[in-house]
Amino acid sequence: MITGDANNNVTDHIFEKIGYNLHKRPDHPLGIIKSVIEDYFDESFGKDTFTSFDDLYPVVTTFANFDSVLVPPDHVSRSANDTYYVDAENVLRCHTSAHQLEMLKDGATKFLVTGDVYRRDSIDATHFPVFHQMEGVRVFEKEEWESKGVEAVDLARDELRTTLEGLARHLFGDVEMRWVDAYFPFTEPSMELEIFFKGEWLEVLGCGVMEMQILEEAGLGDKRAWAFGLGLERLAMVLFDVPDIRLFWSDDKRFTKQFEAGMFKAGGVDMRKFKPYSKYPPCLKDVSFWLPENAEDGTNLFSENNLCEVVRDAAGSLVEEVKLIDEFENKKKGLTSNCFRIVYRSMERSLTDEEINAIQEKVRENMVSKLGVELR
Ligand code: DAH
Repeated sequence: MITGDANNNVTDHIFEKIGYNLHKRPDHPLGIIKSVIEDYFDESFGKDTFTSFDDLYPVVTTFANFDSVLVPPDHVSRSANDTYYVDAENVLRCHTSAHQLEMLKDGATKFLVTGDVYRRDSIDATHFPVFHQMEGVRVFEKEEWESKGVEAVDLARDELRTTLEGLARHLFGDVEMRWVDAYFPFTEPSMELEIFFKGEWLEVLGCGVMEMQILEEAGLGDKRAWAFGLGLERLAMVLFDVPDIRLFWSDDKRFTKQFEAGMFKAGGVDMRKFKPYSKYPPCLKDVSFWLPENAEDGTNLFSENNLCEVVRDAAGSLVEEVKLIDEFENKKKGLTSNCFRIVYRSMERSLTDEEINAIQEKVRENMVSKLGVELR
């Protein structure tokens, strides 16, 4: 599927991840959370009221990923800096919302879609270019709001809030939570649910009342709907105390053996948490360089996302973090200098100097040839 297409920016390291389907493994933390949420919907709405889909292919059209959910033509998420393009018309979905319209058109009115999603992004303990989301949609019939004598939007919003607050309580127990106004192109009103966890407010999901335009497009113009989307890694990291997002991809027995289907306990009460095992030492490499000059249209070949992609391409999952540690401008030269620190670490073994030096050399070469920087 890797094409020679000029628009293709899917590296082998990313391509390899298609088909892992971590969310379909019953004993994997992501599979566990997925079934816990599906069970919650069975309990709240009646068994099998919501239909679950978890094997929709992650390569979708740009129409599905963006247009079908009303993402504006100039939105940043459409750029090749943020999204993996297979070719000009096909992308690795960057959210499960990409499936809303097709499912509605297929006649589904209450459904959950779980799948792997892909985003070009920075690298640290909570960001990995592949992660997993669950989308939920529920369509209301006219009779439902008329019989209650309420406005359709109010009915949808109230049920949405009650349902998701219930879900958060089911997962995290008696936590403090709050609703924050948000913006998504596909919902109005839109909101995010945050929980207070370890001293800070943590966003756990986005949701809202679906834009009528989407329902109309699906031939459901006389109905109303709510929708939500949540990230499974985020929930699993909090629930099981998993400190690094890369661990979800590890097949180290010391990780995998700690999880099994059915281990979840409501509210996380008395549930076994992940016990970290000793980490292998990191290997740090700094790289300083002058940024290339802007192109005529004001764009720059260099971006943090592009750098991360270059590092991932050379290092695969051995890269733990890429962070800017110094920046200054040389007014005389009219150039900006950046220094990035790259942290390499394996979850499985000790790294040798030789292999990291070889990787770092490749990173430096590609920074020059692909990102146009001048190494210092
Ligand atoms: N697609 C959004 C994201 O990836 C999440 C989301 C927000 C999904 C609101 C929804 C929704 O269905 O209504 O950030």
